[in-house]
Amino acid sequence: SKSPIRVTVTGAAGQIGYSLLFRIASGEMLGKDQPVILQLLDLPQAQKAVNGVIMELEDCAFPLLAGVIATDDPAVAFKDTQVALLVGARPRGPGMERKDLLTENAKIFTVQGAAIGQYADPDVKVLVVGNPCNTNAYIAKETAKKFGRVKEKNFTAMLRLDHNRALSQLAAKSGRTVDSLKNLVVWGNHSPTMYADYRFVTSNGDSVKTLINDETWNRETFLPKVGKRGAAIIEARGLSSAASAANAAIDHVRDWVLGSKGEWVTMGIPSDGSYGIPEGIIFGVAVTTENGEYKRVEGIEVDEFSRERINFTLNELEEERAGVADLLK
Ligand code: NAI
Repeated sequence: SKSPIRVTVTGAAGQIGYSLLFRIASGEMLGKDQPVILQLLDLPQAQKAVNGVIMELEDCAFPLLAGVIATDDPAVAFKDTQVALLVGARPRGPGMERKDLLTENAKIFTVQGAAIGQYADPDVKVLVVGNPCNTNAYIAKETAKKFGRVKEKNFTAMLRLDHNRALSQLAAKSGRTVDSLKNLVVWGNHSPTMYADYRFVTSNGDSVKTLINDETWNRETFLPKVGKRGAAIIEARGLSSAASAANAAIDHVRDWVLGSKGEWVTMGIPSDGSYGIPEGIIFGVAVTTENGEYKRVEGIEVDEFSRERINFTLNELEEERAGVADLLK
C-alpha cells in the first residue's frame, strides 16, 4: 500500500476547514487509495476548537487517515509537508481598509512562507485560499524562495471557485450539463475584477457562446454575477461561502495531483510573462495538468474586450503587489 502524504491545512478551526478536512480524510482530494496525515495549524486561541474537529475526524474512522497533529507553530505544521492548503487568514474587520487587510495578511504569509521554505518537502504543492489569495500566495512564494529549497512555481492561488461558479452559470444559460463544458478560463485576481472568459467554451463540440448568442448577457449579467457571487452568498446565508470554497480547493489539488485528463482548469499561478502578465505575479490562467505538474495553456487569443478585462484585474494585482513591496525587502 502507498505511504501516507502529509497535508497541512491552516485555519483548521474555521468554516472552510470544517468542510475541507473530512473530504481530504475520506480520499476525495488525493485518491481513494492514498493515506494522508493531516497537519493542522491554527492560532493558539483556536486550539481547543481544532481539538473538537479532531475528535470528529476520529469518530469518522476514516481508513485513509493515517495521523493527525494540531499545532500553533508553523515550523511544526509545515514540516515535510507535501500538500499545503493555506486557508487561515485575517478577515476584514470593521473599519479596516483594504490596505490594512493586505498588511495584516502579509505578516501571516511571510511567516508561513518562511516556514514552508525551510521545513516543507522540496516538491510541496501550495494552494492559498485565504484572501487576498493571489497576493498572499505571492508573498509566501517570495519569502520561501529566499531559502532556495522549494519550487517557486508550486505556489498557487485558488481561482477554482470562480471557475466552478462560471461553469454552473454557463450550464444553466445554455441548457447543457456542467460536465459537458470544456475550455473555460478565469483570468486574474480572485476578486470581483476577475474575468471569466466564455469565448472558447464548448459543449459536445458546440460553441457555448454561439448557443447562448447574447453578448449583452455575458457583459451585463454573467460577469457581474460571477464576480459578486461571494457577496450574494454572504447576504443570503449570513456567512461566507465555505462549503463551495472547500469543494473548489479539493478540485484544485485533486486535478493538480491526479491530472485533468487534457481538460482546461483555472489555477492562479506565478506568471512566466506570457499574456502580458509581469513575471512572478500570481494570476488566474488556464492550465492542463498531468503527472503532478500543471502546464499553462499557451496561445489563447486575446481580443480587445478581453485585453481590457485582463488589464483591469492585473492593475488591481499590481497595486496589491506594490502595497506589500516594503514588507518583502
Ligand atoms: P474563518 O474565519 O471561519 O476561519 C479562519 C480560521 O483561520 C480561523 O480558525 C482562524 O483562527 C484561523 N487563522 C487566522 N489567522 C491564522 C494564522 N496566522 N495561522 C493559522 N490560522 C489562522 O474563515 P473561513 O470562512 O474558513 O475562510 C478562510 C479564508 O478563506 C478567508 O480569508 C476567506 O476570505 C477565504 N476564502 C477564499 C475563497 C477563494 O475562492 N479563494 C473563497 C472563500 C473564502
